[in-house]
Amino acid sequence: MLFFLVYRSTAVVPQRSAYEALIYLQARDRNAKKEITGYLHRECQFYVQYLEGPENVIKDLMRTIDRDWRHKDVQELFHGHVSARRFPGWDMAFTDAETSSFRARQVVLGSEPDISKASTEKILEFMDETALSEKARLMAYTK
Ligand SMILES: Cc1cc2nc3c(=O)[nH]c(=O)nc-3n(C[C@H](O)[C@H](O)[C@H](O)COP(=O)(O)O)c2cc1C
Repeated sequence: MLFFLVYRSTAVVPQRSAYEALIYLQARDRNAKKEITGYLHRECQFYVQYLEGPENVIKDLMRTIDRDWRHKDVQELFHGHVSARRFPGWDMAFTDAETSSFRARQVVLGSEPDISKASTEKILEFMDETALSEKARLMAYTK
């Protein structure tokens, strides 16, 4: 059985900064080696991340992520077991509000637009939909 976890946190590093690019590159590289797949989204100052893989590996990683200075107020939203991966093929999908806006989608759907208040279910729906499009592919970082 695979383990999955979703959390929300508040970013400390600027959006599309070199610091943020490094988070993504680090995650992609390390996850590939540890059989972790998932999705990271940034909207305004918030990160939401879905991680899935072997239970001990995800729990270890979560302890590391929790201590990472590049974000704060890490709040676990949900965890559990799944029989199949939700994001197979994504060492770490990554989007931000400029490539795929959670707020814009929720406004259209008439749901809570603020990602800091939105339900886990809505966040996962958003990730599911976006991961199917090309937008989640590696974004171009400037500075
Ligand atoms: C928002 C955020 C998401 C992260 N996601 C991952 C991830 O998916 N995989 C990963 O290995 N590290 C991720 N990291 C980085 C880890 O916190 C950590 O820096 C990295 O795994 C290196 O760990 P080490 O210093 O123990 O070698 C993330 C960091 C942040 C701030």
